[in-house]
Amino acid sequence: MNLPSILVLHGPNLNLLGQREPGIYGTITLDSINEQLLTLAQTLDCKVHCHQSNHEGDLVDAIQNAVGHDHGILINAAAYTHTSVAIRDALAAVALPVVEVHLSNIYRREDFRHHSYIAPIVVGQISGFGAQSYTLGLQALIYHLQHQTSP
Ligand code: DQA
Repeated sequence: MNLPSILVLHGPNLNLLGQREPGIYGTITLDSINEQLLTLAQTLDCKVHCHQSNHEGDLVDAIQNAVGHDHGILINAAAYTHTSVAIRDALAAVALPVVEVHLSNIYRREDFRHHSYIAPIVVGQISGFGAQSYTLGLQALIYHLQHQTSP
């Protein structure tokens, strides 16, 4: 069987990681996070490809284009988490397993960050572990693909 392929999607302003509100998001850059995921993918026997966009429609296109190529999606939709019905609908439409991640613990922050439009349609959410949210999320997604169980 071919190695499972995972699409990693990063939403708006995550290209600024490293300089953006380091008290909240730390100093790690997006390139470093992607490198960590590529390294972990070798251990987990999967393929990972990463895409960042500041544009909602571009993220919707990337989700739609995953069909036929990818087996799962790891997403930090960033601010679109709290606003985007379009991204939720795209994720629901492609019906691939999705794990939602956030660097910060969105439930410890402003009220408007407490609601995620995508949380109800994902396998699970990991929030608050900084860059580790992504590596934990990739492990969880691969585990889910291997076991295909729902808790
Ligand atoms: C974020 C949390 C969001 O509320 C915020 O808009 C982001 C990043 C996180 O990773 O902690 O841009 O998704």
